[in-house]
Parts: sequence; structure tokens; C-alpha cells
Amino acid sequence: MERTFIMIKPDGVQRGLVGEIVGRFEQKGFTLVGMKLMAVSRELAEKHYAVHKDKPFFAGLVEFITSSPVVAMVWEGDNVVTSARTIIGATNPISSAPGTIRGDFGITIGRNLIHGSDAIETAQSEIALWFQEAELASWDPAVKGWLYE
Ligand code: RTP
Ligand code: MG
Repeated sequence: MERTFIMIKPDGVQRGLVGEIVGRFEQKGFTLVGMKLMAVSRELAEKHYAVHKDKPFFAGLVEFITSSPVVAMVWEGDNVVTSARTIIGATNPISSAPGTIRGDFGITIGRNLIHGSDAIETAQSEIALWFQEAELASWDPAVKGWLYE
């Protein structure tokens, strides 16, 4: 079953939106297979955002993500990578649709609350970067037959 890496950024934790955000993925029907609150080292932040290392916002982004704890999670389900990106909304909250996490709670691109992997391969490498195998639990939700045909 497909998995994705989701991270509630420091602004989401500081603003008390962890429960709200986790609830949205639960309500959709996805399965939580890993979750931890953690301080992010500069090394981890730079690895996670390596694809953006030449962008003008890179230094500020690393500074922000290491400034206060984040909640790192792995969610599982059919099409979870794409579906999570839809639930999260467009990168800039000013143009994210209402009903999305960024559309409902954010205003500026530098404080857009949450990260979600952008492709299946990215999800696999991000999960491996953020989690040890032993931190992930494979389990069958009792409601599975009511979520999938
Ligand atoms: P994310 O990786 O965090 O899920 O967000 P995303 O795919 O929607 O956006 P991406 O292009 O990967 O950018 C990563 C994060 O960098 C910050 N950013 N700032 N100031 C800027 O122009 C700018 N552009 C991007 C955002 O925090 C974005 O989520
Ligand atoms: Mg991205």
C-alpha cells in the first residue's frame, strides 16, 4: 500500500494545529503508520530540502524548519501521495483553495504549515530519511472494508 511523508512545520505546531491537521488525514480514511514530535537538525533540514539548495529561499527555509519542533508522520492508503497534496493545498496559501489545510489556515508561502511528499519516489526517500524502519507500524485498520471495495 502507498505511503507518504507528511511534516507539520514549526508554525503548525506553534499555532496548536496538530490535532486539526492529523484529524483531516484520519477523517479522509488514511492510516497513520508513524508519528513523532522532534527538533530538526540543520543537517536533516539541508538533506530534506536539498532539491532547493540553490533557491534564494533555501537559507530562510532551513532556518525556519530548525527554529522550533515539527511533527513528522507517515500516512498510508490508496493514492495517498497525490491525495495528501490535494488535502494540503497549493504551495502559496494565498492561492490555496478553501477546504485545504493551507487555504484554511495560512497566509504566506514562508509559513505554509505543512510539507507533503510530491511523488512516490520522493516519499520513499523522505520516509527513509526521517524514520527508522522500527518507528513505523504496519497494521490493518478495522474499518478497512468500509473504506475500500
Ligand atoms: P513542501 O515541499 O513544503 O510540501 O511544499 P511544496 O512542495 O508545495 O513547495 P516546494 O516548491 O517544494 O517548496 C518547499 C517549501 O519552500 C518554501 N518556499 N518558499 N519564498 C518562496 O518563494 C518560497 N518558495 C517555496 C515553502 O515553505 C515551501 O513549502
Ligand atoms: Mg515540495
